[in-house]
Amino acid sequence: MRLLVVDHPLVSHKLTTLRDERTPSPEFRRLTEELVTLLAYEATREVRVDPVTVQTPVAEAHGVALRPKPLVVPILRAGLGMLEGLMRLMPTAEVGFLGMVRNEETLEASTYAERLPADLSGRQCYVLDPMLATGGTLAAALDFLVDRGADHITAICLLAAPEGIANLEAGVAHLDIPITVVTAALDEKLNEKGYIVPGLGDAGDRLYG
Ligand code: PRP
Repeated sequence: MRLLVVDHPLVSHKLTTLRDERTPSPEFRRLTEELVTLLAYEATREVRVDPVTVQTPVAEAHGVALRPKPLVVPILRAGLGMLEGLMRLMPTAEVGFLGMVRNEETLEASTYAERLPADLSGRQCYVLDPMLATGGTLAAALDFLVDRGADHITAICLLAAPEGIANLEAGVAHLDIPITVVTAALDEKLNEKGYIVPGLGDAGDRLYG
């Protein structure tokens, strides 16, 4: 598993405003989308393309076209707030949904909804979830996608905790495909309630109340 922490002043600036408890929901939603678009620029560096040739007004030009079809998977509920930010860059991608919730006592993740293509053989997938805390939710989501045949997965998270990255790394070690986690920051730690410190609070609540 590869971890990429995007180090860019615009990313840090937007993340700092997201962290601020005074930032209200409408601004939080807008900034989340903007931040995802910036992260997606790095996260899609290995998106598969095919060579194409077009005719400019002057001459033939050799370029590339996005290969059909990457699958984007927001993890409900909070991941939904990230969807538009990625679709702006890849409007032809297909979208599948996974509804997962973490039990706040046991911190175990469970799946309550799933709407994904049955066969993901040879598909590149982009998973969206703002918080990688214990890593349980993301590990379960990746298992799900690999079971269906996905062969290249990139997860985009706004924030990650070191404990969650370590758990995820152990949890996906058996998955024999390239996995990358792209995040805007690796925070200090998890607290006793499983919240990222300093974090930004509960992303789902801040997005959707
Ligand atoms: C949050 C967050 C992640 C998960 C991270 O979701 O959006 O999905 O917890 O925790 P983990 O890394 O410890 O598994 P939550 O369960 O609060 O659901 P929500 O998105 O519906 O608010």
